[in-house]
Amino acid sequence: MEASKNFIKDCLKEWKENTNRGWFTWLITTKKSDKAIGNISLKLAGRKANFAYILSRKKWGKGYMSEALAAIIEVAQKIPDVKVIWGSCDAKNKASAHVMKKAGLKSVNNKIFILKKRDNRT
Ligand SMILES: CC(C)(COP(=O)(O)OP(=O)(O)OC[C@H]1O[C@@H](n2cnc3c(N)ncnc32)[C@H](O)[C@@H]1OP(=O)(O)O)[C@@H](O)C(=O)NCCC(=O)NCCS
Repeated sequence: MEASKNFIKDCLKEWKENTNRGWFTWLITTKKSDKAIGNISLKLAGRKANFAYILSRKKWGKGYMSEALAAIIEVAQKIPDVKVIWGSCDAKNKASAHVMKKAGLKSVNNKIFILKKRDNRT
C-alpha cells in the first residue's frame, strides 16, 4: 500500500514538474468506477516514446489494455518530435505481445516492439 502511494506521488510530481525526463503515467479505471485497475505510462526521449503498462490480473482479458495502448499511441503520434514508439514485454507474456501487435507495433526480437511513425513529408 505504501509503495503504491509513493508511486502515485511520484507520478503526480512528474506531471506537475513537466520535465519530460521521466515517465508520464495515466491510471486506468473503468467507466463504472474511479478505482484504479492498472496504469499505462509514456516516457519521451527525443525521437523515441517508450510506453509501459500493467493491469490488475482480475481485469485481464476484457480489452482494457488494448484500449489503453491505442489511446497512448494516439497521444504519442500527435507529438511532432516523436518518430518511434516502442515497448517491451517478457517473451513469455503472449497476451502482452498480442496487445502490442494489435496496436500496430512490430516485434523486433519477441521482447521489443516498435511502431515507426509515418513521415507526412514523404
Ligand atoms: C498485458 C496485459 C496488460 C493484458 O491486458 P488485457 O487488458 O488483459 O489485454 P486485452 O484484453 O486488451 O487483450 C489481450 C489479448 O491477448 C490475447 N491473449 C490472451 N492470452 C493469450 C495467449 N496466451 N497467447 C496469445 N494471445 C493471448 C487475447 O485473446 C486478447 O486478444 P484479442 O483482443 O485479439 O482477443 C497483462 O497481461 C499484464 O498486466 N501483464 C503484465 C505487465 C506487462 O506485460 N507489461 C508489458 C508492457 S511494459
